[in-house]
Amino acid sequence: MIIEPRMRGFICTTSHPKGCEQNVKNQIEYIQSKGKIAGAKKVLVIGASTGFGLASRITSAFGSDAATIGIFFEKAPSEGKTASPGWYNSAAFETAAHHAGLYAKSINGDAFSNEIKQQTIDLIKADLGQIDLIIYSLASPVRLHPTTGVLHRSVLKPIGEKFTNNTVDFHSGKVTEITIEPCSGDDIENTVTVMGGEDWSMWMNALKDADLLAPGATTVAYSYIGSALTEAVYRNGTIGRAKDHLEATAFSITDSLAAINGKAYVSVNKALVTQASSAIPVIPLYISLLYKIMKAEGTHEGCIEQIQRLYAQRLFTGNEVPVDEKGRIRVDDWEMNAAVQAQVAALWKQANTENLAELGDLEGYRKDFYNLFGFGFDGVDYTADANELVGIESIK
Ligand code: NAI
Ligand code: NA
Repeated sequence: MIIEPRMRGFICTTSHPKGCEQNVKNQIEYIQSKGKIAGAKKVLVIGASTGFGLASRITSAFGSDAATIGIFFEKAPSEGKTASPGWYNSAAFETAAHHAGLYAKSINGDAFSNEIKQQTIDLIKADLGQIDLIIYSLASPVRLHPTTGVLHRSVLKPIGEKFTNNTVDFHSGKVTEITIEPCSGDDIENTVTVMGGEDWSMWMNALKDADLLAPGATTVAYSYIGSALTEAVYRNGTIGRAKDHLEATAFSITDSLAAINGKAYVSVNKALVTQASSAIPVIPLYISLLYKIMKAEGTHEGCIEQIQRLYAQRLFTGNEVPVDEKGRIRVDDWEMNAAVQAQVAALWKQANTENLAELGDLEGYRKDFYNLFGFGFDGVDYTADANELVGIESIK
């Protein structure tokens, strides 16, 4: 069968197995080109199938020869339907890891649940003994709370007052003004419950109680700050409250790991096109302008470049991990550079439907978006019959 992108609203409902495989191969090649990193050897990645989590798994495996266990929530292929991209990515990753002689196993299910935590514990016990790095990279709109049974939904809304600003439909290139109503009711609480730090600490407690954390074990979760242009809907909005909570949780996890001399960090990463960020209003316009500036400066990075830098220049240098005044690792430093932000802010004032293709990097945005689903890669013959079952035997 020939697989083409099929869009529904802001999501693509198809994905290309060969293209996803190419995406993984490109990331592996990048990591190999950068040389070895003296990093952790037994790694658990929660949210391992796409975006920053996939990049983390690839960096651990191919940068540090690590054994990896990946947890994710993805759809397997079914009759007449492609798998979700993270499923193909993970199949391709496992195949490549096994070829390289590296241990790699995956668990596909709800990371928020007690069952998946238990399965992970059993797998670590059976295969790895103890682990020394846990990457927490979940991005989800919902969380079924494992103790209360309540289904919480996160929202992306400003707090206090409505927010009006420009946004772009990156498919049509149309720039329009949107107004987002402020959150109400339990919106903040729900968003914090889904995207805050509670589940991260539940994971760490479960692993610690099962004695699966090696001495000096490190855990890292990912956060975002971003610019003044997006702060009403991002950092000062409902999702920002969740990130505040996540960042605060790093300190309580570190305290709880005192006996093993463990440490929890939050790394603040750069704005990038992922399935999660495409769904946030205003952010795609910001990203398309940011990409333009950063590419012109030569400082643009994708997920894999970000995580390679996080590992090689922050986490595993052999020296103390550098952090900001709030204890956070910063690899958003090039995005947040004052000159970059000033240029983005100046472009923001001018950007409209007619000039955005020129002023911003709409093409780059679109390419990254299609790449998420395995489309638009050099070296892939998209007219050929795609083997949907690539790597199927390696995913449980
Ligand atoms: P993504 O959507 O590419 O990846 C999310 C991962 O979580 C996937 O592996 C998915 O399978 C997994 N997942 C979602 N729900 C799950 C569940 N219930 N059980 C098991 N796995 C589940 O997202 P992205 O962008 O890589 O985000 C990861 C983290 O990085 C998030 O905390 C996000 O806020 C943060 N971040 C993202 C930035 C961006 O611009 N995309 C910037 C800075 C931080
Ligand atoms: Na991820």
